[in-house]
Amino acid sequence: MELKKLFEKRESCRSFDGRQPEASVLERAAELASLAPSAVNRQPWKMLAVTSPEKVALVADAVSEEGHNGFCASSPAFFVMLEEREFAEKQPENLNSHNCTFFDMGIVTAHLCLAAAELGLGTCILGWFNEQKIREALGVEDRYIVAMAVAAGYPADPEPRPKKRKPIEEVFEII
Ligand SMILES: Cc1cc2nc3c(=O)[nH]c(=O)nc-3n(C[C@H](O)[C@H](O)[C@H](O)COP(=O)(O)O)c2cc1C
Repeated sequence: MELKKLFEKRESCRSFDGRQPEASVLERAAELASLAPSAVNRQPWKMLAVTSPEKVALVADAVSEEGHNGFCASSPAFFVMLEEREFAEKQPENLNSHNCTFFDMGIVTAHLCLAAAELGLGTCILGWFNEQKIREALGVEDRYIVAMAVAAGYPADPEPRPKKRKPIEEVFEII
């Protein structure tokens, strides 16, 4: 797909058509996402695709506390983005070294959502979730932190909404 069209198509999808995304499509999206860059090429991630109905229900519950993300009750699948704790918790060695691990997670998650859009899937990145509930539901190993959850399914309305964005003059300057 043309890049601009793909970027417009990738939107936060909060309504799904009920179809279960095929394992091959989820795997292809993850495969494309793993082409993402990362600091020192560490690739400090693991992407879980959650599709079994009982685990999907547990993840939906974990992302919907306090009235948030109610739409996830009808999400047929989730990606759960795991971040290697060793790198996440590493203290910078000096003032010029930064811990970029969460940044890496953002990049791979963005790649995943764009790849999913190319494959016809709708996604919604979820920064609001109860980590402990997700850990218990999926048996996440201690060596990972849960960085992000992403609702995934075929969108009920495949036509993208117009984007609401700050004017380019506000967010970009040539100096
Ligand atoms: C790190 C991150 C966390 C987010 N968390 C949530 C969330 O918990 N629930 C939700 O409905 N949308 C969430 N969003 C989606 C944003 O609201 C959305 O990206 C933004 O409004 C722009 O809309 P668009 O994605 O449709 O272009 C999150 C997005 C990002 C990047």
